[in-house]
This record gives sequence, structure tokens and C-alpha cells, in this order.
Amino acid sequence: MNNTKSTSEFQRASKIIPGGVNSPVRAFKSINGKPIFIDKAKGSKITDIDDNEYIDFVSSWGPMILGHAHESVINAIKETAEKGTSFGAPTMLESEMAELIIDMVPSIESVRMVNSGTEATMSALRLARGYTNREIIIKFEGCYHGHADSFLIKAGSGAITLGLPDSPGVTKGTAKDTLNAKYNDIQSVEELFEQYKDQIAAVIIEPVAGNMGVVKPKEGFLKALRELTKEYGALLIFDEVITGFRLAKGGAQEYFNIMPDITTLGKIIGGGLPVGAYGGSKEIMKKLAPAGPIYQAGTLSGNPLAMAAGLASLKIMNETDGFYQKLEEKAAKLEKGILENIKKTGTKAIINRVGSLMTLFFTDLDEINSFEDAVQSNTEKFASYFKLAAKNGIYLAPSQFECAFISAAHTDEDIDKTIEANYKALSSL
Ligand SMILES: Cc1ncc(COP(=O)(O)O)c(C=O)c1O
Repeated sequence: MNNTKSTSEFQRASKIIPGGVNSPVRAFKSINGKPIFIDKAKGSKITDIDDNEYIDFVSSWGPMILGHAHESVINAIKETAEKGTSFGAPTMLESEMAELIIDMVPSIESVRMVNSGTEATMSALRLARGYTNREIIIKFEGCYHGHADSFLIKAGSGAITLGLPDSPGVTKGTAKDTLNAKYNDIQSVEELFEQYKDQIAAVIIEPVAGNMGVVKPKEGFLKALRELTKEYGALLIFDEVITGFRLAKGGAQEYFNIMPDITTLGKIIGGGLPVGAYGGSKEIMKKLAPAGPIYQAGTLSGNPLAMAAGLASLKIMNETDGFYQKLEEKAAKLEKGILENIKKTGTKAIINRVGSLMTLFFTDLDEINSFEDAVQSNTEKFASYFKLAAKNGIYLAPSQFECAFISAAHTDEDIDKTIEANYKALSSL
């Protein structure tokens, strides 16, 4: 595989952009590699500047559930751009987006648009603190909620990948208000509630963790969290930046039938443009300025291009019969094929999958239910696997602690080719 142009572009970028990238996981550091620079993408395929084509399972880290450059999304962006790109004043697109989100996501009655998942979670946190008049939050080790200070304490995603779960620059004052519990261990949450009682404003969780690799909530875990937060008067925040519109129309809350107080969204609602949102009951959301006293704002929030791209995407998901069933079937076929390969090749690995989110963990363990389990994975093996997969035309997230995103654009042929490439890679490890 020829990577000449990408290599030279990375050298150029490294001189002028920290680490050569605008978001750390893109740097391929954990797999001792160098990033490929992308030229274009269409459907399930992504093409780099050296003209190598891959079947893409990064999906821009989640947003591209319809595949790349979907015609309806591109047309919506073009038509909207002709009318101007930002006004700093309300548009009808924003109301249409709010109505559609409220229609699709069961616990949301009122919603505020922002520009990224990070903005959504940091704003949701301020709202929860302002609403409850309490300061402490509980998060879970290995979950990632964006890069706001309060969340960079035992964080997942690039923070684990690069061994930086606790970032310098986060003050001790901020860190003391973030408590970490263990994913799938309700006792660890109960102990914190017993100790801090009425000081806890909120518990924030990825209802399916995606940022330590996929980790599924055990039966009853989310329900127990719901009950515990109610008992202590704390809010439950589902960070559905990954799971929103991916596991079901109404995200993980619909999939597991557990209703949070506040939901954060991102990725898919922008159809590939920068966007985030947070919402909940009218009772909570009316505390936000200008309706209430809790301040949050954004020059580009509700940006018309992002609204148009997001609306075009969400409408397809909302209106296509069997959309999520088809995704499930494709993902199940891929999982089955890879499990057979694991058996045939005698590889020590397991798969965690929920819907179209999947991680192949190279591990001696039989199950991965927490951050402690996930970090025991063999990251060197993953690095070799990543490179072999790329050689065989498959583009995966360059870290053991991320997920593969299956999209509606992946064809049966793509899935067959991926299973074949996986077999070749596992056989050569
Ligand atoms: C669950 C979750 N929450 C929040 C974020 C932050 O979103 P963004 O990168 O758009 O700021 C991410 C990003 O990957 C995420 O996976």
C-alpha cells in the first residue's frame, strides 16, 4: 500500500498543528502509525490522498450512519447554503429540528442546540447543577463525555488511548467535584451516594459505553441507576452522543426503556456537520436563559447548514421502515463472521456488540464489563491487527478502546469482504 502523500502531508501538518491533528485520536499514536489523509468518501467507502480505498468503519466516529455524502444530505446542505450560512437569529429549521428530536427521543420535551458533543455535556452539567443547586457529579471510569474539565478525570476515548485519563490543566477545585464510579457496579454508585448524599447534582453515563470500546450495561444496571438517582434527588444524564439515533430512533433510552432527566446528543444529529444538543423535561429546560437564570449561549448554535444536514438524516431514519432492524442484521452478520474467524484461528479475543456498535477486544478475559476489564486488552495485538486490516482494505478506529460503526451504506458485499479481511488479519497475527 502506497502512503507517500499521506506521510508527507503528516510531516507538513506536524510542523504547524499540535501532533499534526486537530483531535488526538486521529494521530494513530497508540498503534505506532501515521494517519492517512482523506481525499473523499462516498457511501461505505473512504479514499485517501494516495488513492487507496477502504471500507470505512470509523464513520467520522459515529455521525455517518447513512454512509458518506448521502445524496439527500448533500442536497439539503447545498440548498441551504445558497440562502446564507449563518444569521445569528432564529430560523424555521431550528424549530423543525427541535420538533423532530422531541418526536423521536422519548424523554425530551424541550431541546437546546449547540455545536458539539462536548458543549452538550458541559451545558447539561451546568443545567443539572443549577437545577438541583448541588455541585458534585458522578461519572463512570472509562466513559468519555467530551473534553470539558469536569469530565477529564479517569476519562475514556483518546484520553485512555494516549494514557491521559486525567489531564494537566484541570484544577484540583474542579476535580474534587467529579466522583468516579465503576461501570456495571451499582454498589460503587450506592457507596458514593451514601457518602455524599444530598450533594450530588447528577449521574452522567454513556448508556452503552463506546469510549473504552463497546461495553454493554448489565441487565438491571441502568434501571438501578434510575431508581438510585430518584431516591437521592439527583438527575440522571444519559450521554447519547454516540447512542442517540443509532440504537433506535429514540436512542438507548428507547432501546432499554429507561428515561433519563437530561439527554445529550451529537454526532448523528448533524449529518456530518458540527452539532450537539441537550434536552429534557420542560420543567428542567425552562431554567435555561433566557427563560430562566442558567446561562448558556452560542454564536453558531442552530446553524442552518448543520440543521439542514441533520434534519435530512433524521428524517430518513424516522421514516424508513425497518431502518434499525436492517442495521442490526448487518451488524449481527459481521459479528457472527468474526466470531467464526476467532474460533478458526484460535485467536484470544471477544466481541462486544450492541446494535451497530461493535468492538473486537484482544483479551484473555471471557467478558468485558468495565474499564478495569477493558484496559487488560492486548493493545500491541490490536495495533498489528489494525495495520493488517488496513492492508486488506478495512479502515478501523486506530485504538483498541473505540468502536466500529456499521452504517446503512455497508452492503452485504462489504460485510463479506470485511469478514474475509478479518480472517486474513487474524491468521497473520
Ligand atoms: C459519548 C460522548 N460524549 C461526548 C463526546 C464529545 O463530543 P464532541 O467530540 O463532538 O465534542 C463524545 C465524542 O466522541 C462521545 O463519544
